[in-house]
Amino acid sequence: MLILGVDIGGSGIKAAVVDTLNGVLMTSRHRIETPQPATPEAVATVLAEMVRYFNWTGVVGCGFPAVVLHGVCKTASNISSEFIGTPIDHLFSERTGCPCFCLNDADAAGLAEMRFGEGVDQSGVVLLVTVGTGIGTAIFTEGRLLPNTELGHLTLPNGKKAESSASDAVRKLKELNWKRWGKRINRYLTEMEALFWPDLIIIGGGISKSFDKFKEYLTPEATIKPAAFLNQAGIVGAALYAKSKVTLD
Ligand code: BGC
Repeated sequence: MLILGVDIGGSGIKAAVVDTLNGVLMTSRHRIETPQPATPEAVATVLAEMVRYFNWTGVVGCGFPAVVLHGVCKTASNISSEFIGTPIDHLFSERTGCPCFCLNDADAAGLAEMRFGEGVDQSGVVLLVTVGTGIGTAIFTEGRLLPNTELGHLTLPNGKKAESSASDAVRKLKELNWKRWGKRINRYLTEMEALFWPDLIIIGGGISKSFDKFKEYLTPEATIKPAAFLNQAGIVGAALYAKSKVTLD
């Protein structure tokens, strides 16, 4: 089954048609800048443009950078606060003319990695951390997701919020070199290990393609790997989620 997978991020909205049987992208990825301010109206307009770009009339899955509970956006850290309380499944479906199903972006990336990526056959606890404009998390135990964990907002022992100290946006803004940023993300991962004791930590988001540049600064005991789908995990996982909403398997 083919589904248009969309990853709505704080800086870019990326999409591709995904074959949900194997997680393969059937088209190249198209990216449109996230409108600023990222209001519901503005994001819905870009999403409709994206659907037109692909000439798409089928089901759409959207990873969204916020808590999404039963199709309603509940939080807003890197998008307009107007989103809080917005029924985004409904809004996006209405504006695109296609049935749209939204979930948290980190949860989407996690679903893709558990089904087709680094999490395949992994028992125990898997933590996916997606690092981009914000920091998002997805936790799986024996393959099952605990949705909408917001552990990028964790306050670290040094009093700083993880997302404000170690996101990719902060790395770029403060022009941190890999060593300095690597130590920051390591502080976060060390704290996450002390709290959740995952067997495997998967790093997704924009930073995942640079894993080799900072892996030497990571000290947790858990195995740490970059997402097999790199920054495309969100697109693939959004499509898998939408598929689960329209089929029985
Ligand atoms: C949001 C999360 C999201 C993460 C990554 C955070 O600011 O609160 O919901 O998963 O950014 O986009």
